[in-house]
Amino acid sequence: METLLNFIDENKERYIKELVELLSIPSISTEPENAKDVQYCAEWLSKHCTSIGLENVTIHQTPGHPIVYAEWLNAGADKPTVLFYGHYDVQPVDPLNLWTNPPFEPTLRDGKVFARGATDDKGQVFLHLKCLESWLKTKGTLPVNVKVLIEGEEEIGSVNLEQFLEDNKEMLKCDCVVISDTAMYKKGQPSIVYGLRGLCYMEVHVTGPNRDLHSGSFGGAVQNPLNALAAIISKLKDEHGRILIDGFYDNIPDLTPDERAGFAALDFNEEEYKKALDVDALFGEQGYTTIERLGARPTLDVNGFIGGFTGNGAKTVLPSKASAKISMRLVPNQDTNDIAAKFEAYVRKVAPAGVTIEIENLHGANPVLVPRDGVAVQAASKALERAFGKAPVFTREGGSIPITLLFSTILNAPSVLMGFGLNSENLHSPDEHFDLDNFHTGIKASALFYEELSQLSA
Ligand code: BES
Ligand code: MN
Ligand code: MN
Repeated sequence: METLLNFIDENKERYIKELVELLSIPSISTEPENAKDVQYCAEWLSKHCTSIGLENVTIHQTPGHPIVYAEWLNAGADKPTVLFYGHYDVQPVDPLNLWTNPPFEPTLRDGKVFARGATDDKGQVFLHLKCLESWLKTKGTLPVNVKVLIEGEEEIGSVNLEQFLEDNKEMLKCDCVVISDTAMYKKGQPSIVYGLRGLCYMEVHVTGPNRDLHSGSFGGAVQNPLNALAAIISKLKDEHGRILIDGFYDNIPDLTPDERAGFAALDFNEEEYKKALDVDALFGEQGYTTIERLGARPTLDVNGFIGGFTGNGAKTVLPSKASAKISMRLVPNQDTNDIAAKFEAYVRKVAPAGVTIEIENLHGANPVLVPRDGVAVQAASKALERAFGKAPVFTREGGSIPITLLFSTILNAPSVLMGFGLNSENLHSPDEHFDLDNFHTGIKASALFYEELSQLSA
């Protein structure tokens, strides 16, 4: 392992340079005008996979963005097969004016690389490719069989990946899945994530009068769609952070004393958390600690409010239409389609007269808990401890990775969430970045993961 780890050290600068190239591709999956860039990114990755010695590299077109697949299956039938999963698509960049450097002109500063997609998820995908390259260049072999699956639609709900898994069960057959698309607990403290929340993302469209109206001539006579929408939103949650949608909390089990002890052991520092966000108070569902609320309780938030006059100065006008984008994070035993139906019924129930309501389901994902035992988790645990010098903690994350549940239901393989990001790295927001120490140590940790897995499975 000495030569392999030295090789990773010696190639640190080159690996960063190549990552910068990957980060300069604007592969934004939500924007139709970036479809060509997403396609180009898939091609870039597939060429890269070939150049580092992976085999059967293919780009699978879908009704949406392409999926990149590659493999190296020469370790032998007695060795386990690992499927690595990640995504090369990234979030939109707005608000652009809040970026210190343009989002697709990656910049190295303070030991970090700043660019859209740096931590979510290109940097974490690339470190796995560099780990495979390091193995193949120094040893000419891998200690396990590896399949690589990198999709371009994670940020839009992995809409075509489920079908791809169904259609390619044999090709994707594996003993475990490793995903690096989550955060470490904090810098220097690696973690294995065992729970992800689900998501139900809705858009509510409210229409009032058939056109915008003079607010003097008509104000007081008709329902204003923006006011109506604000009224609806105010009824979604009470002042204690409890969601008021009928049946929303059905079937959610109470946290067990064990789980609560697990959260408490993480010594979450509320003061530091507030300071890092410049807020004087935290807010969430009463009766739970902040870290319990983040990992193990559902929530509801307005993500965007659209409507009315937002230009300079005052224009006296009543809007004809208003919309809001509203997301709900879900926890085990909630189902995204069931919650969507309950949301719609409740919004229609509380909507005032004088407006019409349309409700769109933008996308969803079911929550997931992954096993905390088994050889793959053990291997990840040992590898993280060897690479970072500290045993990992087990955490639950508030974000969602829609496909995780389907790896267990369709491929019947357990997933290990071994992430190298930090929640402070501005994912989905301006000045996204990735810590270059974590990039470098992440390459070593994944290299050790494959070695540990090979030994534990023997
Ligand atoms: N990598 C994130 C999910 C994540 C973030 C997990 C932080 C753990 C910690 C992923 O790319 C993501 O953003 N998922 C979306 C899913 C959605 C668009 C269907 C999310 O959680 O909003
Ligand atoms: Mn991600
Ligand atoms: Mn994301």
